[in-house]
Amino acid sequence: MKLLLVVACALVDADRRVLLAERPAGKQLAGLWEFPGGKLEAGERPEACLIRELHEELGITTWESCLAPLTFASHAYEDFHLLMPLYVCRKYDGIPRGQEGQRLKWVRPKDMRDYPMPPADLPLIAPLIDLL
Ligand code: C5P
Repeated sequence: MKLLLVVACALVDADRRVLLAERPAGKQLAGLWEFPGGKLEAGERPEACLIRELHEELGITTWESCLAPLTFASHAYEDFHLLMPLYVCRKYDGIPRGQEGQRLKWVRPKDMRDYPMPPADLPLIAPLIDLL
């Protein structure tokens, strides 16, 4: 089965809320709320991938020293196996805005069950509740 590598981020604000982004219409799993991030390019380090994706998707700038690995998801979708490390980021420049018009929400981890999320993202909630 194909292996897909995606890097995801829990952006944390001063109230210990985490940013979720709605997957845009037209994409797979459209309308579900996910941790921002994206696909690792060939030869790219996960931290560099996340810095690039956060800039492309949310218009913010962060730095490798501000990214702390927390856990990772490993989920077998029907046509690929997704391996997705989750980093925590508490320091960045700019105000997150969906660069492709996607809706954003700051959510307390304990309230995340109210937001439909891709199945791969669900096991990431418990470690965030423990952390925050
Ligand atoms: O975001 P993108 O469409 O590039 O991600 C590729 C696939 O990885 C998605 O179709 C989805 O199945 C999975 N994914 C996920 N959770 C995320 C990001 C991506 O399950 N937070």
